[in-house]
Amino acid sequence: MPGTPHARRTVLRAAALAPAAGLGLTACSTDAKNGDRSAPTKPVDLGPADEVKVGESKLYTDHDVVVSRITDDQYAAYSTICTHARCPINRLEGSKLTCPCHGSQFDATNGKVLHEPAVAPLKKLRVKVENGTIVAGPEA
Ligand code: FES
Repeated sequence: MPGTPHARRTVLRAAALAPAAGLGLTACSTDAKNGDRSAPTKPVDLGPADEVKVGESKLYTDHDVVVSRITDDQYAAYSTICTHARCPINRLEGSKLTCPCHGSQFDATNGKVLHEPAVAPLKKLRVKVENGTIVAGPEA
């Protein structure tokens, strides 16, 4: 029974052991907590194109999108909703995205998984520059 002292001890023991095992208990509830977050379902303006330099990536946490500028006029964009359990990714170092929930890592330039537990790549988005502004949205 969930409210019994035995059940509480089990939960507390799991909470005590989780950090040592490299696990975060907050991760267990990520599906419900992040169920309302998703990749853009329509094109969104992300800001000036010149904010992303050639060879660099920029994370737009308000829209759950990462944009990489591959060449002067070629951009790549991906949803930053983690493909493991849908946590919004909030860390970008160089071109490496790291999920805060279980540590999956992705390459921002191509969406590929760099580190499990995620196994599926990030969802690719359509991206273009309109009047100097980056616009990203679902692929057609
Ligand atoms: S949700 Fe588990 S690693 Fe991102």
